[in-house]
Amino acid sequence: MLSLEQLKSLCGTEQLHLLAHWESLTQIQRQGLADQIAQIDFDGIGQEMSLQQQVCDWQKLAQKAEPPEALRLVDMSHESLVEAIVQGQQAIASREVAMVLVAGGQGTRLGFELPKGMYPIGPLSGRTLFQMHVDSLRGAMRRFGVSIPLLVMTGPSTHEPTLRYFQENANLGLDPQELMIFEQGTMPAVDASTGRILMESPSSIALSPDGHGGILRALSKTGWLERAQDQGIKHLFYAQVDNPLVRACDPLLIGLHRLGQSQATTQVVEKRFATEKVGNVVKLDGKTQIIEYSDLPEEVAKQTNPDGSLRLWAGNIAVHVFDIEFLKRCSSSSNTLPFHRAHKSVPYVDQHGQEHTPLVPNAIKLERFVFDLLPAADRALVVEVLASEAFAPVKNAIGSPTDTPETCKAALVNLHRRWLVNAGAEIDADCLVEIHPNWAWDEQEVQARLGKPIQIHADTYFT
Ligand code: UD1
Repeated sequence: MLSLEQLKSLCGTEQLHLLAHWESLTQIQRQGLADQIAQIDFDGIGQEMSLQQQVCDWQKLAQKAEPPEALRLVDMSHESLVEAIVQGQQAIASREVAMVLVAGGQGTRLGFELPKGMYPIGPLSGRTLFQMHVDSLRGAMRRFGVSIPLLVMTGPSTHEPTLRYFQENANLGLDPQELMIFEQGTMPAVDASTGRILMESPSSIALSPDGHGGILRALSKTGWLERAQDQGIKHLFYAQVDNPLVRACDPLLIGLHRLGQSQATTQVVEKRFATEKVGNVVKLDGKTQIIEYSDLPEEVAKQTNPDGSLRLWAGNIAVHVFDIEFLKRCSSSSNTLPFHRAHKSVPYVDQHGQEHTPLVPNAIKLERFVFDLLPAADRALVVEVLASEAFAPVKNAIGSPTDTPETCKAALVNLHRRWLVNAGAEIDADCLVEIHPNWAWDEQEVQARLGKPIQIHADTYFT
């Protein structure tokens, strides 16, 4: 444990109040507080708060946003698609690809107590979100005859239960050597008017996850990027745990990334409506960037082209491919990713031990977003995909209007139904179908499996 003198020196005069209750703490409490203080990026917070007058004004910047340069579905010829898929398949088969799932969020909107990855979503199988992703990855392994490393990023509230879940379920069939579950860092909440870090109790700091952009810092700590490079891994396929429609290590996306010599590639869908709650992939000051839905003024979101389509059409589905070399470069500098600020009401204890429960936002929470890597890339690529094939996130509780377990299950059933129908199956309208990636990983494998037309009159799980 650091000594009191060392802790004082870390805190500096600006944050010395963190030690205001030191004398009254037990040894265990002191240890806990010292550990928290040791983790804090005081310089980063100091810099961020001193730049208050230069806070990024997204609302203003958004006025200049243009549609991104993107590979749109209508522009892709059959030959170019095949060429890209072959490239992607070669990269996977040569063990040049790893996958990361981010699962550090608290999933508050879903109203599920456990990590969101443990939510049962398989329409017939009841497989969890974690299982769906791992099964898809194992499908890719089977298809390409290689093992593909999986990284799972957790957060403070999801780490222990996620570790336990994987342990109790035999790592969902993954080789433990190829699985790394690592925890992202935290950031303290800061008093919005003074820049002072808030204490949630006399012995602990008010901390929350540092955003999925925390992956850079967290990965650096594990040394994984170096190890991956030594093993010849070149690309990291990135997805969010909340979207089971993601095709693990999508060969088309990886192939396009390689052919385009991109360092950071992102998959987008055409937004269904102007105010859809997805990040907006745009071109801003010549760079590909993402403006969050909450930062895009409604009048800009609603702008249309002469044919009535949305001008800013590209929705972020949070599926990316990053080059390992690029990630290494970015992680070597602490300020590649800017902080985003969220104004929140955060209860706290002051230096006199008085508890406060503010009813209006009193604090700033600082988060980093992984997609801010896009403008840092020398070359970034934007690739369109159909939402019906790649995007059905689970965000909100059952019964909410959008992005619920029901909408996600329906999207999974519809996708698998289309694969089967295209392969010649006739399915009763009220029948549910679900395909396990062991049985068929994609439409091509469904065609090969089915061989001849079949009729489906009951709910069927192909496994
Ligand atoms: C996110 C994107 C949005 C995109 C949408 C697609 C952000 C800021 N916005 O929105 O542009 O259109 O997904 O579904 O990400 N996570 C962590 N650590 C954290 C915070 C989040 O691992 O500190 C993970 C969550 O577990 C989740 C994912 O990141 O898997 C997305 O987080 P969430 O807060 O649900 O983002 P959205 O607001 O839905």
